[in-house]
Amino acid sequence: MDKNVLRQLSYGVYAVSTLDGERAVGCIANSIIQVTYDTVAVSMNHTNFTHECMEKTKKFAISILAEDTEMNTIAFLGFQSGREKNKFEHIETITVDGLSIVKNAVGYLICELVDKMDTETHSVFLGKITDGAVLSDSKKPMTYAYYHEVKKGNSPKAAPTYLG
Ligand SMILES: Cc1cc2nc3c(=O)[nH]c(=O)nc-3n(C[C@H](O)[C@H](O)[C@H](O)COP(=O)(O)O)c2cc1C
Repeated sequence: MDKNVLRQLSYGVYAVSTLDGERAVGCIANSIIQVTYDTVAVSMNHTNFTHECMEKTKKFAISILAEDTEMNTIAFLGFQSGREKNKFEHIETITVDGLSIVKNAVGYLICELVDKMDTETHSVFLGKITDGAVLSDSKKPMTYAYYHEVKKGNSPKAAPTYLG
């Protein structure tokens, strides 16, 4: 297979947040799709601490990141683990339903975890959307292509789209 064909798939860039007890945890994910009018799916690596906490907490939020998101925010959330760091200490957030939302986001979704499907490396979590709001009409949501081409970002091994 020509792996480059996978680079032609389109995504956004999101922060998935949940709780470790009362502590805000989460990570960056590009692999979010709307499955039905009120259901989304997210592919989460088994080794991510967020995976463990989503399963325990059974709810999560998705912050739809804006093009002007600071690369530091993506570095905090996407390149280190909540096992060792309080990532959200460094990020401006608002709290909705007990979950931390990136304040600079274009909008957010609050989801109840309803199902899970496993692959060797990732679980696909299904979330039923219980709430959501637009936070900015003027900001543009960041696409995965924009993240790579304009922001010059890259993705770690845990991302499902990592091609080496
Ligand atoms: C642009 C980008 C996209 C990512 N997409 C995903 C994803 O869709 N699923 C996933 O499991 N990890 C993804 N990651 C990797 C996690 O964000 C990363 O492994 C994080 O450090 C996990 O933190 P945690 O251990 O606190 O959960 C992505 C990272 C970046 C920078």
